[in-house]
Amino acid sequence: MFEHLDLLAPDPILGLMAAFRADSDPRKVDLGVGVYRDEGGETPVMQAVRAAERDVLEHQTTKTYVAPAGNAAFNEAVGRLVLGEGHAALSGGRVRVVQAPGGCGALRLGAELIRAAAPNAVVYVSSPTWANHVPLLSGSGLVLERYPYFDSATGGVAFDAMMGALDVLPPRSVVLLHASCHNPTGADLGEDQWRQVLSLIRRRGLLPFVDIAYQGLGGGLAEDAFAPRLLCAELPEALVAVSCSKNFGLYRERVGALLSLSQTGAQADAALSHLVRIARGLYSMPPDHGAAIVARILGSGLREQWERELAAMRGRILALRAEAARALAAVCPHRDFGHIVRQRGMFSYLGIDKDAVRRLREQHHVYMTDDSRINIAGLRHENIAYFAAAVAKAIG
Ligand code: LMR
Repeated sequence: MFEHLDLLAPDPILGLMAAFRADSDPRKVDLGVGVYRDEGGETPVMQAVRAAERDVLEHQTTKTYVAPAGNAAFNEAVGRLVLGEGHAALSGGRVRVVQAPGGCGALRLGAELIRAAAPNAVVYVSSPTWANHVPLLSGSGLVLERYPYFDSATGGVAFDAMMGALDVLPPRSVVLLHASCHNPTGADLGEDQWRQVLSLIRRRGLLPFVDIAYQGLGGGLAEDAFAPRLLCAELPEALVAVSCSKNFGLYRERVGALLSLSQTGAQADAALSHLVRIARGLYSMPPDHGAAIVARILGSGLREQWERELAAMRGRILALRAEAARALAAVCPHRDFGHIVRQRGMFSYLGIDKDAVRRLREQHHVYMTDDSRINIAGLRHENIAYFAAAVAKAIG
């Protein structure tokens, strides 16, 4: 049966991770996969996570099943973390939250819910978007199309082109939006632009599907959640896919959630009933350990510590952005890398071609995806000069 299967190329991001691990050169720099790293190049377990984990282990009395919707305390806490305490959609009983195996699981759940409700719906994703959005969403059977997003001349959002494209979509089209820290470009919308997106969505009767995977790593917990808070306050329906991988550093534990906003409480219950049925058919139940940790942190005094640690991570990324832009400007005076400072979150597009990316990898042991996306958090104060000099040599 399997003799006709071709050997597939590795995943563009995870393949890079494996190639980096196999490289034995001591100068190697990993700007590939989007994980936070400290000055020692490690991805540490956050102190708040360690403390909550100890607490979970000490107090857990059973390993029996939880439920397809996951940990109820986690779901409630994540709803409030993303939408903010006292959000009208929460107090109005129109939001349901389902724990998912990571942000990926949440995206797939959302896509499957859309497919159940409107099998012919088309999902529009930004061009470019995170590579894994494509298999995650289209795997549900939905058709994917693109809308323009990035302006390579400015390193910002091609806002007019984006709005022009969205303004001709048929009603009930789905628009996948990155709440903040756009992956892969780091180019985000401003608050006023989000308000314009809201009016357009309302006017054209579109469904926003918001991906929030970096809350707290861009401008702050509230700032990074501006879009889902606004859209869920003003619109009848929305979906929000949440990841706790980066802001809690829980990558391998697979912790995420899907928020679904409906027009009424009864419709919200119906959506929830579909979500638990979909979850049961896909993986039965999400893993509990990471969600139990997040629930402990958000529901205890550990929250303050977690917020402090998160703020330090955010501050480090911002400092690295400034330092990288300065170092690149010094060795490549004919190129403008100022966009690195203006962009937010873990990623920036360097804006160099595929051959230069390959030379960086093969000759200088600097790893980034082919589109020249760099994980800013993979830089270190001690290797920024090496990185900048390598870029200068690779672009010639
Ligand atoms: C990334 O974009 O590098 C991260 O979100 C990790 C992944 O799974 O691709």
